[in-house]
Amino acid sequence: KLAAMPPTDKAAILLASNRGPVSFTLKDDGTFALKRGGGGLVSSLSAIDPSAGVIWICAALSDADRRAARHAPGGRLDQAGHDTGGQAVRMLDIDPATFNRAYNAIANSTLWFIHHMLYDTANQPVFDARFRKEWASYEAYNTAFADALAADAAKGAKVMVQDYHLTLTPRLLRDRRADLRIGYFTHTPWAPSEYFQLLPDDVAREVLEGVLGADYAAFHTRRWAGAFLDCCETVLGAKVDREELTVTHAGRTTRVGVHGLGADGDFLRDRAAQTDVEAHVTALREQVGDRKLIVRVDRTELSKNIVRGLLAYRHLLREHPEWHGRVVHLAFAYPSRHDLPEYREYTAAVRRTAAEIVEEFATPDWQPLILHVNDDFPRSLAAYRMADVVLVNPIRDGMNLVAKEAPVLSEKGCALVLSREAGAFFDLGQDAIVVNPYDVTGTAEALHQALTMDDAERIARCRRLAAAATALPPGKWLADQLAALE
Ligand code: G6P
Repeated sequence: KLAAMPPTDKAAILLASNRGPVSFTLKDDGTFALKRGGGGLVSSLSAIDPSAGVIWICAALSDADRRAARHAPGGRLDQAGHDTGGQAVRMLDIDPATFNRAYNAIANSTLWFIHHMLYDTANQPVFDARFRKEWASYEAYNTAFADALAADAAKGAKVMVQDYHLTLTPRLLRDRRADLRIGYFTHTPWAPSEYFQLLPDDVAREVLEGVLGADYAAFHTRRWAGAFLDCCETVLGAKVDREELTVTHAGRTTRVGVHGLGADGDFLRDRAAQTDVEAHVTALREQVGDRKLIVRVDRTELSKNIVRGLLAYRHLLREHPEWHGRVVHLAFAYPSRHDLPEYREYTAAVRRTAAEIVEEFATPDWQPLILHVNDDFPRSLAAYRMADVVLVNPIRDGMNLVAKEAPVLSEKGCALVLSREAGAFFDLGQDAIVVNPYDVTGTAEALHQALTMDDAERIARCRRLAAAATALPPGKWLADQLAALE
C-alpha cells in the first residue's frame, strides 16, 4: 500500500518524534522485517485524512533502521515499498555515535532524569566536558529534525513536535521557516523549577527557549504546564500569565495548553476481542482459577516504581495472610532502554524482588506472583480483561495509559490503585484508590482495600473510570491541538 502523499509534495501536517510508527530488524537472509508500532501517537493519526498531506518524521533507532532508511529514497520508507499503513514516513539516518549521545546520554539519562526527578545519591548529575560533547550531539540531532521538517513542510504547514528528545527543534525550525505553525507536546512530566535548575544555566535556557520556539506548547496536565511556566519565569525571566497560560519572552508569545491524552476505547475493545487475546484469556484462567488477580503492566522503567509495588504486594501477604492461596499478582515488566546501566540494574532488582516473594510464599498449589519480562501486547490486553485490581504506582509519570486502558477492558469492573504522581491522577483520581508511591505500607493497604471493595461500588467506579479514561481519545487529542494552531 503506497502512501497518499507523493514524494515531491510538501506536507500540510508534519509530525516529528524520535520513535516512529515502524521499526526494522534484519532477517538472516539479509532482508528487512518491519514492525508497526502502536501507542497514542499512531492511533491519533488514524483520525486525520492522509490525503491532507501528512508526513511523520522520525529517527532511525537501530542499525537495521539505518540501513532501511539509507535504502529508501530520501529516507521515505513508504516510497521504498515498506508497509507503513499508508502513512508517509521519513526516517532520519543520523550517525550512530551522534544518535547514541543524543538519545541515551542526553534525552534518556539527563532530560528524562530531570523531569522524573530520578537523580539520587548513587547517581548524581555531573555536567563536565563529556556532557558538553553529548549536548553538542543533542543539538545536532535536533538540527537534523529541524532541517528535515523545514524541507518537507508546505507554506504555512502545521508541525507537531513531540517530547523531550526534540526540545530544541521548535526554535531551530522557526529560525528556518517563520511561516510555519509549530506545536510542541511534552509527554513526560515537567520538572519543578528548583529541580530543573540542576541543569547548567545555558542548557536550561536553551531547552526553554527551544520549546518557546513553538506557537503552542502543550502538556498532559495543568501541573506540568504550571511547572513549565515557573521555569520560564525563574530561568528566563519571561513574563508568564497563569490565567491565560501564555509565556512572553524575547518579543514573542507562546500559548501553553493542556490536553490529557485518553485511551482509544474503540480500538481497545475491538483488539481485545480477537482470537489471540482470547487464547491468552483461556490460558490465564487455567493458571489463576478463581483467585483474585492484581495486574500491573509497565516498561521496566525506573520511574514506574515496580520494586516498591512488589514490596507492597509482599507486605500485603505478610499482613493479610487471609489472602494466601486466594490472590495472584500478574506483573508484566517489559524490557526498556537496556543500553543504560541503571536500567539493567533495575531489571535485575525487579527479578530479584519477585523471586524473593515467590520463595517466601509459594506453595505446591499456589503461585503468588507471575512475572513476565517479555513484551506481549495481546497478553496484556487479556490481563486487563481479567483484572480484579490494577496497580499503577509510578513515582512520576506524564500520563500513564495503563491506568486508562485497563478499566475500559476489565470484565469484572476492576479497582484501580493509582499513584497521585501520575498525570492520569488528574483525570481518574475521583474513582481510583490513590497512593503516595513511596509509601509501601500505604500501597499494601490500598491493595487490600481494592481486593475487599464491595462489588457494586467497584463496578460503578470502574464504569466511571472507563468513561473518564476515554473522554479525550487520541484522534480528538491531536485534532484539538491542530485546531489550537489555527
Ligand atoms: C515515554 C516517552 C516516549 C517514548 C517512550 C518509550 O513514554 O514519553 O517518547 O517513546 O517512553 O521509550 P523509548 O525510549 O523506548 O522510545
